[in-house]
Amino acid sequence: MARTARVLDVDLATAALLHDLFARAEEADGVEAISEAFRLAVGPAREGVVHILRYAGDGTVVGYGQVAGAGTSAAGTAAVAELVVDPSHRRQGHGRALLEAVLADGAHSVWAHGLLPAADALARSAGLVMTRSLYRMARPLTADDAADPVMPAGFSVRAFEPGTDDETWVGLNAAAFASHPEQGRLTLEDLHERMAQPWFDPEGLLLVEDDETGRAVAFHWTKVDPAHPATPRPRLSDRRRNAAAAALRRDLADDGGRTGPPGEVYVVGVHPAYQGRGLGTPLTRLGLAHLARRGLAAVELYVDGDNAAARRTYERLGFVDVAVDGQYTRAGT
Ligand SMILES: CC(C)(COP(=O)(O)OP(=O)(O)OC[C@H]1O[C@@H](n2cnc3c(N)ncnc32)[C@H](O)[C@@H]1OP(=O)(O)O)[C@@H](O)C(=O)NCCC(=O)NCCS
Repeated sequence: MARTARVLDVDLATAALLHDLFARAEEADGVEAISEAFRLAVGPAREGVVHILRYAGDGTVVGYGQVAGAGTSAAGTAAVAELVVDPSHRRQGHGRALLEAVLADGAHSVWAHGLLPAADALARSAGLVMTRSLYRMARPLTADDAADPVMPAGFSVRAFEPGTDDETWVGLNAAAFASHPEQGRLTLEDLHERMAQPWFDPEGLLLVEDDETGRAVAFHWTKVDPAHPATPRPRLSDRRRNAAAAALRRDLADDGGRTGPPGEVYVVGVHPAYQGRGLGTPLTRLGLAHLARRGLAAVELYVDGDNAAARRTYERLGFVDVAVDGQYTRAGT
């Protein structure tokens, strides 16, 4: 009889079996089921981490689930899970058993990396709803990108000045992201934390000012982080869907960091009073020009699936989807 075991630490031998299982699943699915932070937690006990092992009737480990952040918030809303079933043992009920176990252990939501149809069907059949999708988009940078775009009349561009522009930026960011759960709430302290990171470069945080008022009304913050994860390999199904985009994705993945980390469009924001005036595209190009001048070969960004306007802007600028993650949450919470 298949069974499920809940453990707080994973011994070395079991961890090795699990890492092999993760690799087989990645090979089959074209995407990592278990993200880096969860993989790193497979080992000795860690606060808030619960491991669920799934064994087939013959004792083979055929699946794994992990709850992270268990018991860290009063309402339990921070507890998230990831789970995976060995590709050669799917459609035998192991996924459902693992999902039930992580939910019983307090998981509030489950990540589905790659938004695979099987994950979608399983999550929905358990009554979960997709509450968020997050796209990673990328494109190569060329010599043509290095020239600054022409801004609409009446606007000028300058770099952020640490110590002078800090409060201005926090206010502008809060206005631009008033309806965004995380980004809009960044405080002066949060900004200073980021400014203290080795990757922070004030020259890469560009402010657009309204010449009439002298006030900053938009910004493009770029990031170049040597620790940036590699671009994922394209999935087989993608190759059939859009050959040009798939070729681009393959080139980006094949680079494997040889030309250095990609630059990142970290945050782009326009004050609501200035939205819809054609600032979005030149604002994005400004950051691309800065990154191209730094000699970077590619640029990436993360965007919420429900942000259709931003996704369209990036597509028009030649970005293609290289990865997508979905978060499924218990209904009614
Ligand atoms: C998603 C995953 C965990 C499913 O594991 P599994 O052991 O094959 O799932 P089960 O056999 O328990 O299937 C339970 C239900 O999910 C749905 N389902 C699972 N795979 C499916 C598929 N390929 N197509 C359509 N529905 C599917 C069905 O409703 C199924 O019930 P049924 O077999 O009675 O029709 C597995 O495909 C996997 O490891 N994927 C990669 C990791 C991942 O995406 N994790 C996120 C999970 S939310």
